Amino acid sequence: MGTKRPAKAPKRKKKNGPKKFWLLGREEINTAHFDITPEGTLLVREGNYQYNIYNIIKKHGTPTEIFFPTIVENRVRDLIETFNAFIKVTGYRGRFYYHYPMKVNQNREFVLPAVAEGANLDVGSANELFVVKRMIEQDKFNEKIRVICNGPKTDRYMDLIDELRGKGLIVIPIIEDMVELERMKKFKGEVGIRVDLNLKVASHWDKRYNRYGFTEEELVNLGKIRNLAVLHYHVSSQIERIDGLIQPLKRAIALYAKMREKNPQLDTIDIGGGAGVPYDKRKRFYTGRSLISQLVKTAKKQCDRLGVRHPNLIAEWGRYVVAPAQVTIYKITAEKQAYNKGGNSWYVIDGSFMNDLLDTWAIKQKWHVVPVNHLLSKKLARVWIGGSSCDSDDKYTAGGSYILLPRLSDADELYIAFLDTGAYQDSLASHHCLLSSPLKLTAQNGEIKVVRKRETAEEVGKQFGW
Ligand SMILES: Cc1ncc(COP(=O)(O)O)c(C=O)c1O
Repeated sequence: MGTKRPAKAPKRKKKNGPKKFWLLGREEINTAHFDITPEGTLLVREGNYQYNIYNIIKKHGTPTEIFFPTIVENRVRDLIETFNAFIKVTGYRGRFYYHYPMKVNQNREFVLPAVAEGANLDVGSANELFVVKRMIEQDKFNEKIRVICNGPKTDRYMDLIDELRGKGLIVIPIIEDMVELERMKKFKGEVGIRVDLNLKVASHWDKRYNRYGFTEEELVNLGKIRNLAVLHYHVSSQIERIDGLIQPLKRAIALYAKMREKNPQLDTIDIGGGAGVPYDKRKRFYTGRSLISQLVKTAKKQCDRLGVRHPNLIAEWGRYVVAPAQVTIYKITAEKQAYNKGGNSWYVIDGSFMNDLLDTWAIKQKWHVVPVNHLLSKKLARVWIGGSSCDSDDKYTAGGSYILLPRLSDADELYIAFLDTGAYQDSLASHHCLLSSPLKLTAQNGEIKVVRKRETAEEVGKQFGW
C-alpha cells in the first residue's frame, strides 16, 4: 500500500471560540461544568469551586480517572425531582422510586452520593447484594431503602435476600424464569416478575439473544402469582430515541392491566434502565426532562384509557446518572503515520482502550475527546488514537473517521480527556498486557482525593499469581 500524503491540517475557524469549538459549557450535552482557562487548559467547575485539570494531571500523572461526586448527586436529585414534578402537574396518582443499578459502577464513591440523594438500589448478583449488607452493617444508610434484586437467584443470593429482609430492609426479588417462580413460592415478601416485551428499540441490544424474563403471553397465562407487586422490564441500554422508552411503557401498561385481573396487589411498574446520554456531542439527543415528561404523561393517559389504577413507577437508569460524572485522561506518548485514506496520524496514549474504556472495543462506543492543555490551538491534526497494549483492536477512530486534536509539533506535551466515562468501564476493566489500571481521583468541595492508587507491577502481577 502506498503512503498517503497527510491531509492539510484543519484549522479552528475564527468565529468559533475555543469553548464553542470543543463543545464545552453546554447544559444539553452535559458539558455545562467544563470551561477553558486563559492559558488554554481544561477547567471543571463545581459551584464556586474549580479544578484545573492540567494542574491535577501534572501532579498525579496519567492515565488517570477523575470522578466528580457532585455531578452524581445533582443528577440523582434532579431525576427524582423532575419525576415528582411531572407526577404532580399531571395529577398522576402513583409514586416514583429511583433505584440506582449498582452494576453500572459499583465503586463506593459512586454509590454513596447516589444513596445520599435518595436513590434506592438495584443489584444484579449475590456479590452486589453483599455490598449492600456491608453498607447496612456500617450504619451507612436508612434501612427504609428499597432493593430490587435482578439476575439469577443462586442459593447464596436467596440466603442474603432472606437475611437482609430479616434486618428490616425492603428487598424485592425479580422472578426471571420458571425455576425462580417455583422457588419464590416459599418467599414471604413482595416479589416482582420480569417480562421480555415483544418489541425492538433502536439501541445496542440484540433482541434475538434476549433471554431475560417471560414472554407477555406466558405472564398472562401464569394467572395468579403469589405476592406479586412489581412488573419489571429492561429493554436495552443507551436507547437512541424517546419513543424507544415510551413504546415499552405503553405495552407494559396494557400487560399490567391484564395481569391485575388475577393479581390485584400488583401496583408497580419497573421500567428498568435505558435512558441514554449524549456521548456524541455533535448529534441531537433528547433531554432527561423531555423524556420524563413524556413517560409520566404516557403512563397517565394509558392507565386512564384502560381504566386501571396508576401504578407506582420505578426507574433503574444507571448510565444516565453516572456516565457524565467521570473523565479519563491520557498523555500522548508518540505520533505515527496511520497509512489510511485520510492520511491521519496515530496518537498513541499511555493507557489502553481494551483495558480502561472497554466499550470502545466491545460496542464501538463513541466518545467526546478534548485536549487537557493547548485548548486554544488553532491548528489541529486529524488523528486516530492508539492504545498501548499489543493488540491492533486497541484503538479509537471515532467510527473510522477521525478525532481533531492539537498538533503535536506545536505542543511540548499533550494530554487528552475522554468525557462521560463513569458508566460500565470500571466493572468491565481488565489487564491486557498486564498494564496497570488508571489512578482514580475524586474532586469534591475543592479537594482532590486519591481513591484508587496507580497499580504497581507487583500488584498487577499478584492478581495473576506472581
Ligand atoms: C436490569 C437492568 N436494570 C438497569 C440497567 C441499567 O441500564 P442503563 O445503564 O442503560 O440505565 C441494566 C443494564 O444492563 C439492567 O440489566
